[in-house]
Amino acid sequence: MREKRQLVAGNWKMNGLLEDGRALARDLGRLARENPPPCELLVCPPATLLFVVGEILAGSGVALGAQDCHAAPKGAHTGDVSAPMLADLGCRYVILGHSERRSYHGESNEAVREKMVAAWEAGLAAILCVGEREEERASGRAFAVVKSQIQGSIAQSAAAPRLVLAYEPVWAIGTGLVPSMADISEMHAAIRPLLPSATRILYGGSVNPKNAAEILALSEVDGALVGGASLKAKDFMAIAGACR
Ligand code: 13P
Repeated sequence: MREKRQLVAGNWKMNGLLEDGRALARDLGRLARENPPPCELLVCPPATLLFVVGEILAGSGVALGAQDCHAAPKGAHTGDVSAPMLADLGCRYVILGHSERRSYHGESNEAVREKMVAAWEAGLAAILCVGEREEERASGRAFAVVKSQIQGSIAQSAAAPRLVLAYEPVWAIGTGLVPSMADISEMHAAIRPLLPSATRILYGGSVNPKNAAEILALSEVDGALVGGASLKAKDFMAIAGACR
């Protein structure tokens, strides 16, 4: 059985100074306490905000996650953050293989796989991001691309509680474009047999309070990975409130 509760995760990306992070976390904590949503809630702030956001959200029911980690537990890796460091700050999840890291940092499937093992060793669950580019969808290769990312990025010892998959078509990220509901369902259904049974599959890419209910109602969709709309507490909670 799949975990029944859907997961709504906010990827804040590289946004927020200390005071912004505090304010957003306070608002989220208050809204989550006042009106607990019918789903699991997670925020993934930039590394600089993890500590303060974690302190504010402690006991609120909103979990903490990071946006990336290094494959090594410690050592001479200037500028990097390790999985044990994230776990030490109270993180339960880490996003891995986001398309922005694959594109701008040249992260290969193999690099993502090594990070996944490191995350698991530190006790974190990995949210693995995959998704095709516009030209790959246009040429009918969307599933082949996603399949090879999944097969290349998932480490051997994968198990459903430690892995969440996020299907994020690159062309839908930050563009306001969203695939048809049929296309989302079709991709999620095609991906499912490639994953440990019970793995949750999130949709990500331009999810907002207006389209969330339709997306989250799809039986193949186990939650959402939200970028821009996760920076406004009300919008993020409206998306969470749209869960089944
Ligand atoms: P947007 O919701 O801003 O399109 O971003 C999606 C995303 O990349 C989440 O990881």
